[in-house]
Amino acid sequence: MEQQQLNTPGKVTSGTHISCWTDTVKPLEFFKLTSPLKTQVAVIGAGIAGLTVAYCLAKAGKQVVVLEDGLIGSGETGRTTAHIANALDDRYSEIESLFGEEGARYAAESHTAAINLIEQICREENIDCDFKRVDGYLFLHPSDKKKSLDDELTATHKAGIATDMIYSVSGIPTESGPSLKFPQQAQFHPLKYLNGLAEAFTRLGGRIYTKTHADKVKEGVVEANGFKVEAEQIVVATNTPFNDWATMHTKQSPYRSYVIVAKVPKDKIEPALWWDTGDQNSVWPSMPYNYVRTQPYDDQYDLLIHGGADHKTAQANKEDEPEEERYKRLETWLRERFPQAEEIVYRWSGQVMEPVDDLGFIGKNPGDENIYIVTGDSGNGMTHGTLAGILITDLITGKENRWAKLYDPGRITVTLHTAKTYLQEQYTTLTQFVDYLLPSDVESLQSVKPGEAAIVGKLKKVAVYRDEAGTFSAYSAVCPHMGCVVQWNNDEKSFDCPCHGSRFTCKGELMNGPANANLEAVKVPGQ
Ligand code: FES
Repeated sequence: MEQQQLNTPGKVTSGTHISCWTDTVKPLEFFKLTSPLKTQVAVIGAGIAGLTVAYCLAKAGKQVVVLEDGLIGSGETGRTTAHIANALDDRYSEIESLFGEEGARYAAESHTAAINLIEQICREENIDCDFKRVDGYLFLHPSDKKKSLDDELTATHKAGIATDMIYSVSGIPTESGPSLKFPQQAQFHPLKYLNGLAEAFTRLGGRIYTKTHADKVKEGVVEANGFKVEAEQIVVATNTPFNDWATMHTKQSPYRSYVIVAKVPKDKIEPALWWDTGDQNSVWPSMPYNYVRTQPYDDQYDLLIHGGADHKTAQANKEDEPEEERYKRLETWLRERFPQAEEIVYRWSGQVMEPVDDLGFIGKNPGDENIYIVTGDSGNGMTHGTLAGILITDLITGKENRWAKLYDPGRITVTLHTAKTYLQEQYTTLTQFVDYLLPSDVESLQSVKPGEAAIVGKLKKVAVYRDEAGTFSAYSAVCPHMGCVVQWNNDEKSFDCPCHGSRFTCKGELMNGPANANLEAVKVPGQ
């Protein structure tokens, strides 16, 4: 039977706040998986990584099936700000010190190839997604010194990127310092792009099943919606790999990043990408930085999209600044630099996986022969997910690819920097087990406001949610992945795990791995 697109209205996303992307494009929905099947390649996840891998493999002549538990782009791709850049947020000077000059050159080459591939796919598949080439400007955070821009200038030249040091920040006159100009970056509307990519993939004979949750993966078989999908090769592109219980989760850490979007009068700001070098005094190994771009909106307005204020997932309290308070900091920063900004029309947060040695992981899952993963996007998810399409297709079709070693998930990069970052990240993870000993968030359930939740009990931790009508429901607060205690995120109305980033709705339903089950429903304490 020919596959049919259902084109369901409504928003499916991993949080209460809706991004400007999800709000302006109807997500594509396909049939659910309702019977077993056989294919050459099964790809799990229909974000930018999964769909690009699927598209490239289909172009190479492979029979490919995509399994997605939400809709097209309903995971983190729908919550990005979609900078398409070869300016890596972990810096070429750092990457050179970890992977050598050749490694830095391959990182630059692969991310540049990803920008070019997105442009080529838009052109060849006629995808109208507001793709535009723009320049990018890296400028100093107040806590940083000019030397870091000088080092980056040298490192980018060695890596093959034609950056220029300029003595202003184009588009932000209030910034008095220098900036590094990265030419030929790009931007687009990520969900318009993904819908076009999904359609192009199905034109090539690919099949997509949405609302199809894969919960077991082993060599040769995926189990999804209770049916077996037999596949010679399996690609897990689910932001963080749920098929890997421990190894990969010691190599990367989950962070939340915040976004506000202001309307600005049409054509008042020349489109560009802007990034500052990040807060050098941050408590987090992965320093938060500010990132800004524009996006066409309507006849009168463009959108100005500003992200930042990152913290390690479910640990906002370490800075005494709850999740829902972080947008204020972004707004102050934005209005100081872009007086053209008018009303704030969107805000949301998204999750970013930060690898301990600064580069993402694309390739065979450690210990597996025919199972591949894509994870550790850091702040470069658009290019990282796209270069995965090139690299995994080469790996599966047996074509040599010189980037393979650089992105190998099994790599071990031992330097002073990675050892320090690793220990810091593991320390903050291990200290989460102390949560079992902490007192309840509230003294009595009656103090939980409607629409909010709390973690109560000592040793036996329970996540209690009170709905808008005042009715309580309760779940075990123990994350089904490795047993950390989840925390309530009052901004996105979710229970987030501080250890490896699993997230659950206020009703305990799984939204993000690596956990692969809901929070267990339990009795409401005292009832
Ligand atoms: Fe690993 Fe929760 S995500 S313990």
